[in-house]
Amino acid sequence: MVAMERSVGFQSRSPVEQYLHDLLAQIATNTEGTVADYIPELAKANPEHLAVVVVTVDGKVYSAGDADVPFTIQSVSKPFMFGYALQEYGLETVLKKVGVEPTGDPFNSIVLDDVNNRPFNPMVNAGAIAMSELLRGENHAEREATQMDFFSRFAGRKLTMDQTVYQSESDTGHRNRAIAYMMLNSGMINGPTEEVLDLYFRQCSILVTARDLAVMAATLAAHGRNVITGEQVISPGNVRDVLSVMATCGMYDYAGQWMFDVGLPAKSGVSGGIIAVLPGQLGIAVYSPRLDSVGNSVRGIEVCKRFTRDFSLHAY
Ligand code: DON
Repeated sequence: MVAMERSVGFQSRSPVEQYLHDLLAQIATNTEGTVADYIPELAKANPEHLAVVVVTVDGKVYSAGDADVPFTIQSVSKPFMFGYALQEYGLETVLKKVGVEPTGDPFNSIVLDDVNNRPFNPMVNAGAIAMSELLRGENHAEREATQMDFFSRFAGRKLTMDQTVYQSESDTGHRNRAIAYMMLNSGMINGPTEEVLDLYFRQCSILVTARDLAVMAATLAAHGRNVITGEQVISPGNVRDVLSVMATCGMYDYAGQWMFDVGLPAKSGVSGGIIAVLPGQLGIAVYSPRLDSVGNSVRGIEVCKRFTRDFSLHAY
């Protein structure tokens, strides 16, 4: 059907979008993996949804598939939250709260670096929860607003939260509670612990589309300047630190194989989103909810592998 549309001169797509559309048509037949169900609300995602969006640093948007379907950002939020912390507090202070070493462990490991009690990096839950404590505001409501405002500035539009997923995260997030209370015990966070956790659950439940994520990724590619609004959201130096940690820790225990195959800093989340960044050039976002055993989108990985191979985008 894709080829036929082209041969009869169906002219609504640019060549890049036609390429992306063809790519998705090839990948759509892959039905491996399963939708995350450890948070009951996530299990309701449509497993067939599939999207890819590429946004360049000069704001051009190329999309194919379900680019405007909303889903919760989940762990794709983590590099941005790290960026927030760096921007507000500077590297020295942030490094007292979180390291930059990959763990090779699952994202929800209940483990800290026993040399200094820090979470290993900001891409695992422990590190992200430690970053949540750094949100500025006089009270919980203000800190919530700070968070939503920051993510909205990255996306270039006002984002909202999925109330039902948030409730589900909060009702079932006992492992995250264990992580947070372990950090409270070791003095890595100071509390109030339930409020810090609440900010983390809210962060995971922010609604985005693949188009939003591609804009956010492109904003990292543009050294922190939003490619739609022109706002400098975080500094180029902080973007460098964010991308460095994404490169080593963004894909969990698949980070090494990802870097080998795709060669770009990236971040995945359990709702099926992945972002990848080619600094100075473009951001890519893919969305497909079926995950592999590590928690990465099966078809999302495949799209990124083929796209970077076809356009020779591997950093090395
Ligand atoms: O902490 C959790 O369980 C989730 N809300 C976020 C997890 C996530 O996306 C981890 N990444 N693959």
